Amino acid sequence: MVNNLDISKAMTIKLDDKLPEYPKFKEGVRRAPKRELTLNEREIKLALKNALRYVPENLHEALAPEFLEELMTRGRIYGYRFMPKERIYGKPIDEYKGKCVEGKAFQVMIDNNLDHEVALYPYELVTYGETGQVCQNWMQYQLLKKYLEELTDEQTLAVMSGHPMGLFKSHKTSPRVLITNGMMIGMFDNPHDWAKATAMGCSSYGQMTAGGWMYIGPQGIVHGTFNTLINAGRKELGIPDDKDLAGHLFITSGLGGMSGAQPKAVEIANGVGIVAEVDYSRIETRHKQGWVSLITSDLEEAFKVAHEYMEKKQTISIAYHGNIVDLLEYAVEKNIHIDLLSDQTSCHVPYDGGYCPKGFTFEQRTELLNSDKEKFSEEVNKTLGAHYKAVKTLVDRGTYFFDYGNAFMKAVFDSGIKEIAKNGEDTSEGFIWPSYVEDIMGPMLFDYGYGPFRWVCLSGKPEDLRKTDHAAMSVIDPNRRGQDRDNYIWIKDAEKNKLVVGTQARILYQDALGRRDIALKFNQMVRDGEIGPVMLGRDHHDTGGTDSPFRETSNIYDGSNVTADMAIHCYAGNAARGMSLVALHNGGGVGISKSINGGFGMVLDGSERVDEILKKSIPWDTMVGVSRRSWARNEHSIETTMEYNKKFEGQDHITIPYVACDDLIEETVKKYNK
Ligand SMILES: NC(=O)c1ccc[n+]([C@@H]2O[C@H](COP(=O)([O-])OP(=O)(O)OC[C@H]3O[C@@H](n4cnc5c(N)ncnc54)[C@H](O)[C@@H]3O)[C@@H](O)[C@H]2O)c1
Repeated sequence: MVNNLDISKAMTIKLDDKLPEYPKFKEGVRRAPKRELTLNEREIKLALKNALRYVPENLHEALAPEFLEELMTRGRIYGYRFMPKERIYGKPIDEYKGKCVEGKAFQVMIDNNLDHEVALYPYELVTYGETGQVCQNWMQYQLLKKYLEELTDEQTLAVMSGHPMGLFKSHKTSPRVLITNGMMIGMFDNPHDWAKATAMGCSSYGQMTAGGWMYIGPQGIVHGTFNTLINAGRKELGIPDDKDLAGHLFITSGLGGMSGAQPKAVEIANGVGIVAEVDYSRIETRHKQGWVSLITSDLEEAFKVAHEYMEKKQTISIAYHGNIVDLLEYAVEKNIHIDLLSDQTSCHVPYDGGYCPKGFTFEQRTELLNSDKEKFSEEVNKTLGAHYKAVKTLVDRGTYFFDYGNAFMKAVFDSGIKEIAKNGEDTSEGFIWPSYVEDIMGPMLFDYGYGPFRWVCLSGKPEDLRKTDHAAMSVIDPNRRGQDRDNYIWIKDAEKNKLVVGTQARILYQDALGRRDIALKFNQMVRDGEIGPVMLGRDHHDTGGTDSPFRETSNIYDGSNVTADMAIHCYAGNAARGMSLVALHNGGGVGISKSINGGFGMVLDGSERVDEILKKSIPWDTMVGVSRRSWARNEHSIETTMEYNKKFEGQDHITIPYVACDDLIEETVKKYNK
């Protein structure tokens, strides 16, 4: 029988055998509510044993009761005692220890994801999206850091749901880190079984960029939100291509991790926005950051100010401290016209705290969630019903409503309102209102390959970011397409719009070859010593990388929207081509079992090795998504793949579908049925 002394001797990378001091929790830092805990006694014991796997035996007696207390009161074992005592933030790369640039770069990214300025529930390692974690607990965090300090440029670190499984020899052109999060076996791939596995310390929800260490604060989503709003205005309100949202009203909810981008985006688009938020601390954060301009808890005042600015054709974003349903019912009652309407509460987890029931303050919601989950769920269902009714009335009066990828319509359906499904029975044919991807992002951006390319200047220097902004701008031809003009203006004004929260990062929508060319240009700048190393990446909310029928792939209509082959291929293909970090997750954005999503990180160190990887991997990462969209007969994707095949003749080749005539199909089926 092995003993713990021999086990300890068999490892050189491990946690220390000294009990860390218990941390002091700062007042005012947002804390995650208690998570679903349905473990039986055997499973509770297992959860304890599992958490103690990380710590040497001499600490078990002290930690076992502490861990049990955490499990029973918080639903998870976070191992708070192992939380660093100093402030966590993404420091300049040179301040980290490591044996290769990638090992240090990943530490910058992890720490940025847990910065109190950036993260939603930093003590519980949640970066954003209510439940999206960097890793499961602080023991994993400490161990990950130790592994990253040891990682060489000929090894790969395997990270499974936050757990560093180990370092294994690979090649200089292999990924340095392979990450998976929340992957479940089919028959257990549902939120309940996943929550059980997670409570036992065996799984983790990585959202999109949290568990892939690529979150860059709300900026990451501002560009996409801006694109969505401006294009919704063009499509639905008849705004010409060279005009903005001046004089138009956008109503929505949420000032959290991603939803917090909405007021900033509406201001950049020059419109007027009112955003309902129940949690005052999040309003304060966004206000302090300059992301929302005015705070009020008075609906009369909110609409009065909004109309003044609409008349002046000036922009303002207003945070309404209260429930979105109260706001919408007020607008219905007073017959106020709303041009654009959406919602960004965390409806992908409505019963776990993502959606606040009407009639409860944020604090009361947390209390109820902790004390009586059943009653909480009932209240959530009632509120979803009222929410649906208000939206329906407004839509009937001429408002354009779109689902913002938060599974709002799915949540309404799950609450028992079947009429929100197109066929009134199930979700197989979608919902009565469009999702923003179906109507806007899909056909206008993703189908061409435009997606949320991003980078972090690892030196931490604002001047590096400025130089990269200018370099990226020089690559874009604003006259090629409307989208290129929008992107050009975006990057030109990016610094002025003060988008940075946390590390010196930038988001810029680009297509496959735009991303490649910018990446190569940046790597050249690193080589020439103009800037320090750069981490490239993207959100998973992109053309490629994510199979998500309720969001990213909601504008796929050939029946393949329920498959996840593309996401897996994207991940494997990026690994094969040597991206520095490759991540594959379950449920990003919409919740466990509803999507498979992946992302990458690529460290630019100025080497020619990196040039070669960029040339092959960056186009692949996007074109795998365009090819899948093209095969689903999406028109712009077909055009894009045709151009691509011509440009890359003899190197790459994509299969393009022949399009059957609808009349022929109708006729054939009619004849057969006779
Ligand atoms: N914008 C996008 O393109 C995009 C991309 C990915 C995901 N999402 C989805 O959007 C949702 C929001 O993401 P997030 O990171 O901002 O989550 P978050 O949990 O950080 O923020 C949601 C906010 O909504 C507030 N809220 C909840 N119920 C409310 C109510 N009834 N009235 C008013 N406010 C309420 C919460 O207090 C919270 O601050 C998630 O479901 C996420 O998956 C959107």
